[in-house]
Amino acid sequence: MAGITNSAFRRLCAEYGGGLYVCEMVTSRALVERTPESMRIIKHAPEEEIRSIQLYGVEPNTVRAAVRMLVEEDRADHIDLNFGCPAPKVTRKGGGSALPWKTDLFEDLVRAAVDEAHKGEIPLTVKVRKGIDDEHMTFREAGKIARDLGVDGIAIHGRTTNQHYAGKADWGSIGELREQLPDIPVIGNGDIFAAEDAVAMVEQTGVDAVQIGRGVQGKPWLFGDLQNALSGSAERFHPSLGEVAGAFRRHAELLIEHFEDEFRGLQDLRKHVAWYFKGYQVGGETRSGLAKVSSMVELDELLGQLDASGPYPGRAAEGSRGRAGSAKRPHLPQDWLESRTMNSEHKAMISHAELDISGG
Ligand SMILES: Cc1cc2nc3c(=O)[nH]c(=O)nc-3n(C[C@H](O)[C@H](O)[C@H](O)COP(=O)(O)O)c2cc1C
Repeated sequence: MAGITNSAFRRLCAEYGGGLYVCEMVTSRALVERTPESMRIIKHAPEEEIRSIQLYGVEPNTVRAAVRMLVEEDRADHIDLNFGCPAPKVTRKGGGSALPWKTDLFEDLVRAAVDEAHKGEIPLTVKVRKGIDDEHMTFREAGKIARDLGVDGIAIHGRTTNQHYAGKADWGSIGELREQLPDIPVIGNGDIFAAEDAVAMVEQTGVDAVQIGRGVQGKPWLFGDLQNALSGSAERFHPSLGEVAGAFRRHAELLIEHFEDEFRGLQDLRKHVAWYFKGYQVGGETRSGLAKVSSMVELDELLGQLDASGPYPGRAAEGSRGRAGSAKRPHLPQDWLESRTMNSEHKAMISHAELDISGG
């Protein structure tokens, strides 16, 4: 997740339980150009055993070069190609989750990535949304194309582009893809906020794995809960306020290590405050102090104001979190929906769909 799953947060999650922790999405062009930010994104700590990198790209040759770079320089153990981004500034140019509508370009991109990844025996997966809107589904064709090209798995977010993160994810589409592609792993995504949701998704759809987005924001112990639930244990993490504060502080330490800068690390921590302390008794002044924290001394002072014995608040700490927004008509290039293949104007425009994007 862009802006969330840097090496610091992945390490924190892994301290609670197992999982495949994917880095923040990196654009293939920036990676090929070795921009400092893209090199930061793909950085892994030595204890991260599976280096899982998510790429975004719209030009087959650039995607090919990015995958080749990762493989030849031994920088990844798993590569995922993201086609889930709903941001208007990307879909307006034909990128992100608008792209699988154009099956010719989708095919060229996935082929380039699979070819290069498999030369180095690195597994390559793809991530898609179910479609652009209810009248323009893309997951069936995208799934078939990706499977026929030899991908090692496909993740589907059960929302359309126009839903962004609003409404309920449609697990029916996830189950349908699972049935359609019996020969490759299908990974289900959407609305898993607790371990019980993951168990329900597996039961209802038959998916081989689940993928988690917003649910882990402020809840790095969710993967510990998942590991327990999927192995049949009823044990769950129900942290006291003191334990949440401890996890928050650990997150701070890891961020400072990751960014190699105390201020930058704590600046990144600020956005996590509301998620961690959702439902807990934390005074307004302490909350706003945490949201502006800029040194470890200050952080310790603020956390010291909390009642460490404050109990786990139950439902108030659970449920959905993070981005929701509302459904919006998708922004698409002119005539995008007229045909499933690219015309010359679309071809001329598509390279502009790679700039400054974030999300899925
Ligand atoms: C802040 C934010 C950043 C995201 N970044 C990415 C990303 O980089 N790559 C990706 O595949 N999905 C990204 N997503 C989408 C999530 O992975 C996931 O598909 C979506 O949130 C639905 O799952 P959920 O209901 O579990 O949150 C992002 C979502 C959010 C809220």
